Amino acid sequence: MDKPAQDNRAAGGSFSAGAAWTTDAAPGGAPALAVRDLRKVYATGTEALKGVSLEMPPGDFFALLGPNGAGKTTVIGIVTGIVDKSGGSVSVFGDDIDRHPQAARRHIGVVPQELNFNIFEKVIDIVVTQGGYYGIPRKIAYPRAEEILEQLGLHDKRNDKSMTLSGGMKRRLMIARALIHRPRLLILDEPTAGVDVELRRGMWDFLRRLTAQGTSILLTTHYLEEAEQLCRHVAIINRGQIVAAGTVRDILAQLHAETVVLDLAPGAAERAASLLPAFRAAVADPSTLELEIASGHSLGEAIVALETAGIGVRMARGKAGRLEEVFMKLTAEGEK
Ligand SMILES: Nc1ncnc2c1ncn2[C@@H]1O[C@H](COP(=O)(O)OP(=O)(O)O)[C@@H](O)[C@H]1O
Ligand SMILES: [Mg+2]
Repeated sequence: MDKPAQDNRAAGGSFSAGAAWTTDAAPGGAPALAVRDLRKVYATGTEALKGVSLEMPPGDFFALLGPNGAGKTTVIGIVTGIVDKSGGSVSVFGDDIDRHPQAARRHIGVVPQELNFNIFEKVIDIVVTQGGYYGIPRKIAYPRAEEILEQLGLHDKRNDKSMTLSGGMKRRLMIARALIHRPRLLILDEPTAGVDVELRRGMWDFLRRLTAQGTSILLTTHYLEEAEQLCRHVAIINRGQIVAAGTVRDILAQLHAETVVLDLAPGAAERAASLLPAFRAAVADPSTLELEIASGHSLGEAIVALETAGIGVRMARGKAGRLEEVFMKLTAEGEK
């Protein structure tokens, strides 16, 4: 397998602003991607997806976040028609991948996790040939490929064999190739795994411009920071299941919430919970209440409210939040 070279630095910062190109993405209408109850059992018996559902509005920038082995590449493989699903449904801009596979595929440009172009082929030919798979005549594909390569800082290299490119340039070539048919949905599988900081920033800027021009983007990552910096929506996947989903702001607010455990008089927990709607109070047992102290609220506020209602708080102790626990577990596994 053609591993990314270690000379990414040479390519850093060379994504150019470029001219906008338009896609046929219309605002509103069908979701860019709708995944319902997706299941996958590999021939080995591995249950990689246990009922995954996702929805991306058109124009969205969406992160599927999770550690290695969570099932991210399996989701991408099914959506792009490379992997057969065991159950569930997928539609892309309203086109179901079973009923209208060609239309669905036409909407998608995909940048796989591993480099997979012919290293003996010239850069421009790799991009133009890809256009051929979508029925784009060379006469149209050639100038379009030049334009895309220009925007990705690869124009000078267009006549070189792809094997001569640096690791960072190879990644950009993968993006150029994915864009030749002007897809409405660009899917990138771990685009910045093992990429140095400078190159990562350049890629982020390029993707931001692309989405500002109307392209919907789905990326997978195991970096929380990447999702936080780029994306509007995020779904966290672990062991083939979505464990949290929402806007990045909501998910981060949940991740950052502290959970506090309160010991109350026996039987007081139920009434106490009803007094604290802002704290997502959960009754653990009749004398124990768990509160989430989200930003903007304080433990003191909760205790005052309870004492005012005649409910004494015997003890308060911290507990890692459920989501925080999940996410710490996720990232710890992701580092392996
Ligand atoms: N072709 C395959 N055959 C058997 N098991 C697979 C195959 N591809 C992936 N898996 C397994 O499915 C699970 C999910 O893998 P994958 O979708 O690659 O996760 P991620 O991309 O999040 O790292 C893992 O347990 C992995 O070992
Ligand atoms: Mg993967």
